[in-house]
Amino acid sequence: MGRLLFLLISPYLYSLLISAVALPTKPEGYHKLRPSAPFKIALFADLHFGEAESTDWGPLQDVNSTRVMSSVLDDENPDFVIYLGDVITANNIAIRNASLYWDQAVSPTRAKGIPWASVFGNHDDAAFEWPIEWFSAPGIPKIHCPVANSSCSGEEDCSFKGTQRLELMKNEIELNALSYSQFGPKELWPSVSNYVLQVLSSENPKSPVAFLYFLDSGGGSYPEVISSSQAEWFQKKALEINPDSRVPEIIFWHIPSRAYKKVAPLFGIHKPCVGSINKEKVATQEAEMGIMKLLVERVSAKAVFVGHNHGLDWCCPYEKLWLCFARHTGYGGYGNWDRGARIVEITQQPFSIKSWIRMEDGSVHSEVVLSPFINRDKST
Ligand SMILES: *[C@@H]1O[C@H](CO)[C@@H](O)[C@H](O)[C@H]1NC(C)=O
Ligand SMILES: *[C@@H]1O[C@H](CO)[C@@H](O)[C@H](O)[C@H]1NC(C)=O
Ligand SMILES: *[C@@H]1O[C@H](CO)[C@@H](O)[C@H](O)[C@H]1NC(C)=O
Repeated sequence: MGRLLFLLISPYLYSLLISAVALPTKPEGYHKLRPSAPFKIALFADLHFGEAESTDWGPLQDVNSTRVMSSVLDDENPDFVIYLGDVITANNIAIRNASLYWDQAVSPTRAKGIPWASVFGNHDDAAFEWPIEWFSAPGIPKIHCPVANSSCSGEEDCSFKGTQRLELMKNEIELNALSYSQFGPKELWPSVSNYVLQVLSSENPKSPVAFLYFLDSGGGSYPEVISSSQAEWFQKKALEINPDSRVPEIIFWHIPSRAYKKVAPLFGIHKPCVGSINKEKVATQEAEMGIMKLLVERVSAKAVFVGHNHGLDWCCPYEKLWLCFARHTGYGGYGNWDRGARIVEITQQPFSIKSWIRMEDGSVHSEVVLSPFINRDKST
């Protein structure tokens, strides 16, 4: 049976200088993981490290969050971890400190030698610094130099001044050989962490088993949207690497799109939805700019995973897709619902995506088969 391994689809060299971060240039080849079939991913969502750093309880939350992650990693022994945004609560934290907290958050995974990837949430960089008028229709800010006599030289320095996403990502990547995170195409900056990874079978490395897409859903220094430019990037990439839609695609971002609201169960959680907590309203992105239409139309797109809402952990079908929340992993951030992590398991033959939630106390619940797609509502 297929042993799955992992490959960075478009690895690249990066520069030490933020202003000159290089785009992918050179393939690094295959990254073979310890042999295992199926391929298991743990989602760590909304850790909020560094929150209230000057209080007694702030740092204790982080100790607790570290314990949750270690416990999940011990119980599940995943092949890969995804940090699904709001890794830190960086609002008003200096970049140096923000990167220290980020480092604490990835340390349980690193300590076990497990590779990971991360995608940004709305709390991972500083509060909004650019007025909304700077944003053009496709969601890309106009080149703009805020201070007349500022020290910045090129246009680029001006337009990206202020965001910390690049610095956070630079630190994660530079300090961690196990990190598979990427800056993403420069044309999409300051929306950072737009990239794709592929899961491969060691038996047939030329034939990917699944593509994992990561998209920055904004927030912090950027509006809470997946812009039409990001949607276009997704479409272009998907047509390029998966033209016949043969390979299943799984998508990860932080803030739920508006479609989540359409499928949200009203009271409790009932079939076809599967989950255990439904304690708040879906807090969606500010606008829908095309990504959901693309995903719904692609037969190979199977499921979307988001964090953001700490009091929701359900999966619901939407057209031929599954829309899933992760499970609040951190003690940081609002809400006292018990902590845990959503697990996603990909099996090659026959292809399936299964998911369940592993709690801090070791218990497991809310198992659901996401692919092959079965809308139980219609089949009964
Ligand atoms: C840390 O976790 C323990 C056990 O769940 C809990 O009792 C305590 O309140 C938590 N502390 C903080 C600051 O979150
Ligand atoms: C950074 O963290 C240190 C402690 O780790 C703290 O003393 C300092 O005030 C923090 N700096 C800022 C700007 O938050
Ligand atoms: C910019 O420089 C000019 C000339 O040196 C000076 O008159 C002006 O006050 C400066 N403006 C700002 C915003 O510092």
